Amino acid sequence: MKFFIDTANLEQIREAHDLGVLDGVTTNPSLMAKEGIKGIKNQQKHYVEICNIVQADVSAEVIATDYEGMIREGMELAALNPHIVVKVPCIADGIKAIHYFSEKGIRTNCTLVFSVGQALLAAKAGATYVSPFVGRLDDICEDGVALVAAIVRMYRFYDYKTQVLAASIRHTKHIIECVDAGADVATCPLSAIKGLLNHPLTDSGLQKFLEDYKKVNG
Ligand code: G3P
Repeated sequence: MKFFIDTANLEQIREAHDLGVLDGVTTNPSLMAKEGIKGIKNQQKHYVEICNIVQADVSAEVIATDYEGMIREGMELAALNPHIVVKVPCIADGIKAIHYFSEKGIRTNCTLVFSVGQALLAAKAGATYVSPFVGRLDDICEDGVALVAAIVRMYRFYDYKTQVLAASIRHTKHIIECVDAGADVATCPLSAIKGLLNHPLTDSGLQKFLEDYKKVNG
């Protein structure tokens, strides 16, 4: 399973990258706004900075919601760096744009996916990644992980090459559940990735090893 970090914060991206287990980064307009990055030029600079840190897939989202606008923005984003994956919302013009990008060999991430039907359209259009939003479905008392599992089953059955990127991951348990569901990728906050390390038996076991070492070696 691939790990992406879901943030535009450079410090967190560096920390996750330094762990040596990071396979990419996803951003969205809300995450960019959270970092206070204003204006297209600064945003583009920021995407390139992220690409330079991770040297791996970086999803950068289009703002336009019409076909021509998405194509224009997506082409500009893709030209910034070979690691850019153009993130496109799962609406009719978005599906058309994903098809266009796919024909041009430009990689895409179909975002804001909340149903198997949407995921089917994304795959048929040739999306590289599809992003079902786990946490946002859980927020409305639906089962986000069950959607991830259903999309994985459908893609495997029909042999679609689109990778299932579990998004809107809120905590460590979501990651483990997405592993069980067979997601290809999970994009997670840094806290959820670090949470995978926690186990009280690791802490107490390490403490005992060090105490025993000291008994003999001083
Ligand atoms: O990648 C999409 C994801 O960031 C959305 O997460 O927590 O805003 O639902 P959240």
